[in-house]
Amino acid sequence: MQIFIDSASEKEIADLLKQGVVDGVTTNPTIMLKDGVYDIEEGAKRIIALIGERPLSIEVTSNEHEEMMGQARCFATWGPNIVVKIPVVNEFGESSLDVISALTSEGVAVNATAILSFNQAILATKAGAAYISIFAGRIADEGNDPVQTIRNVRQWLDSWGYSAKIIVGSVRTVIDIQNAALSGAHIITVPPPFFPKMIDHKYTRDTVRQFNRDAEKALTDIATVRSVNRGSL
Ligand code: E4P
Repeated sequence: MQIFIDSASEKEIADLLKQGVVDGVTTNPTIMLKDGVYDIEEGAKRIIALIGERPLSIEVTSNEHEEMMGQARCFATWGPNIVVKIPVVNEFGESSLDVISALTSEGVAVNATAILSFNQAILATKAGAAYISIFAGRIADEGNDPVQTIRNVRQWLDSWGYSAKIIVGSVRTVIDIQNAALSGAHIITVPPPFFPKMIDHKYTRDTVRQFNRDAEKALTDIATVRSVNRGSL
């Protein structure tokens, strides 16, 4: 399973790369805005300089298919690891499967995004998307269970031999990450604030504190024993 960072912040990405657990980066227009990236090309190129060959997902920002195609072709020239995010429908509910299919035929890697249902996932897969972004938090927002969707999509991909990879995004709580990992996500894209929450644990701190104190005590004890031994010679 891979872990991506859901961020456009160079600082966050650079910090997390050092931890050795990051396999790629995803962004969307909301993340870009939040992280102060106003020039998509400049932002994407800065991120690519940090992440090397790892994949970077950048999302198109239009409802129009011709414009989506143009943006996607342009993004793809920025690096071989660019993956273009295409929402499965535009804001009017019109299918983007034709865009996904055409880009895939041209050799542009597509991340079919804003997926909230099993049926959207299977159609995006059949249209050729390399990645299927299932939005766990937004599925749960509507009172549905993202675990079931992730599990069903994974089972369907495996049983029919499709190579598309499930990216679980829209992470809202730490348990979403565990649930995604155990229900068949190939990739989870994690917002940076969740990494410290994933690794830290109060009792681990107490355990390390105990070990450190006992190591100090051992040094004091050995020094005492040595000085007693020297005195008795
Ligand atoms: C990632 O690919 C998604 O764009 C992102 O995780 C969406 O998260 P949100 O539902 O919290 O906006």
